[in-house]
Amino acid sequence: MDHGWMLLAAAVAMVPSDAGSDASQVPYPEGFRRWAHVKSQLVTPENPRAGRFVGLHHVYANAQALEGYESGRFPDGAVIVFDLLDVHTGKGTTDEGPRKFTDVMLKDSRRFAGTGGWGYQEFEGPARERKLDAEKAAACSACHARLAPDDHVISTFRE
Ligand code: HEC
Repeated sequence: MDHGWMLLAAAVAMVPSDAGSDASQVPYPEGFRRWAHVKSQLVTPENPRAGRFVGLHHVYANAQALEGYESGRFPDGAVIVFDLLDVHTGKGTTDEGPRKFTDVMLKDSRRFAGTGGWGYQEFEGPARERKLDAEKAAACSACHARLAPDDHVISTFRE
C-alpha cells in the first residue's frame, strides 16, 4: 500500500464528523443567574435595528468566560448568556418583566470551528425550547464576527 495514501486516510479519519456549527450541541446554561454579571442594556423600539431584541437584557459569564473578558482570549469551555426580559414601564420606573428568550454562546474551538470557535443557541420561554438550527446559528455568528472581529464577543465587562 502506498504510504502517502495511508497518511492521508489517517488525517481524514481524524476530522470530526460534527465539525461546523451544530447548535444542538449547546446545552441550556443551568444556574447562569448565579454567574458573574457582565453588563445590562435596555433596547427600545426607537432603535431601528432593535427587532426582536426589544427589552432589557443582562449578560452573564461563567468562570472561563470571565477569564476571556479579562485577557481578551476566551478559552474552550467559556459560556456567555444573553438573557432578554420584557419590561414594564410605570410612573418613572422600568421593571423587569417575563423572560423573552435566552441566547447562549459556548466556546469549543474544535466542535464549532465553522463559526469562529463559538456555538450559538437560543432557548425560548419556560419550556426552554431550542430555536436554532445550524443555519440560524451561522446568522448569529455572522453579526458577531462583523461587530467583534477578534474573538466574536461584543460586550465588555463593566468593573
Ligand atoms: C445584528 C447583530 C447581532 C445578531 C444577529 C446577534 N447578535 Fe448577539 N449580540 C449583538 C450585540 C450588539 C451584543 C452586545 C450587547 C450588549 O453589549 O449588551 C450581543 C451580545 C450577545 C451575547 C453576549 C456576548 C457578547 O458577544 O457580547 C450572546 C451570548 C449573544 N449575543 C448571542 C447571540 C445569539 C445566540 C444570536 C443568534 C440568535 C445572536 N447573538 C445574534 C449583536 C447580534
